[in-house]
Amino acid sequence: MKGCCNLRRRVNSLPAAEVSIQTERLRLRKLNQGDAGALFSYRSLPDVYLYQSFHPAAISDAAAFISGTADQLDQPGTWYQLGIFLGDDHILIGDIGIHFVNAERGEVELGFTLAPEFQGKGYATEAVPAVTSHLFSALGKRRITVDVDPRNFRSRRLASRLGMVQAGYYAESVRGGNTCEGLIYTLDADRWPYSSQTAGPG
Ligand SMILES: CC(C)(COP(=O)(O)OP(=O)(O)OC[C@H]1O[C@@H](n2cnc3c(N)ncnc32)[C@H](O)[C@@H]1OP(=O)(O)O)[C@@H](O)C(=O)NCCC(=O)NCCS
Repeated sequence: MKGCCNLRRRVNSLPAAEVSIQTERLRLRKLNQGDAGALFSYRSLPDVYLYQSFHPAAISDAAAFISGTADQLDQPGTWYQLGIFLGDDHILIGDIGIHFVNAERGEVELGFTLAPEFQGKGYATEAVPAVTSHLFSALGKRRITVDVDPRNFRSRRLASRLGMVQAGYYAESVRGGNTCEGLIYTLDADRWPYSSQTAGPG
């Protein structure tokens, strides 16, 4: 689990609607309308959306995306969108979507995105485990999944670094005769060694 030595973090106690997670270099908090411009600046890049369904054409699309996400964590069927902020200036460098797929199974899907200039520095490897620990420890979730295009090697490497295992594959026909493929990676809470909210793996 390369890079997880940065996981020492603080999860602030906030009302159920809010979460703020601090890692060594990053702060994670819910995206709000003030983040729409910064979100658009990287989510609109083809290299970033190549394997994702969200392709904003204007800042208003990013604003609509943010307003379409849940206000509170753990609302069944919804996505909650955390921004990844760097440094004292709180620059938005990426985001993590949390999809509360199934309450009974305690299953949550994650999606992660970094602006290109902030890739290759271990920020996702720092942020995603902090979110994972919060989901397992504070919310009692039992399984995290990630749906990755097989050609998306950076995401596949990230999932493997985080200890996720490849548990499934699907191929679907989509409009235009193309085929959409996905690899499903999973991580179960009983295989996650860093569930304490007060200490990371360092
Ligand atoms: C998926 C995505 C977030 C992964 O980003 P990433 O930069 O590869 O992941 P990290 O931030 O954890 O950085 C890891 C890389 O930084 C390097 N690195 C540098 N410093 C590091 C550190 N302190 N700790 C860990 N890794 C470090 C690692 O060696 C690794 O590089 P490698 O994969 O070439 O070996 C990014 O590729 C992305 O946003 N893609 C577009 C959106 C997308 O497709 N999302 C997936 C949808 S599920």
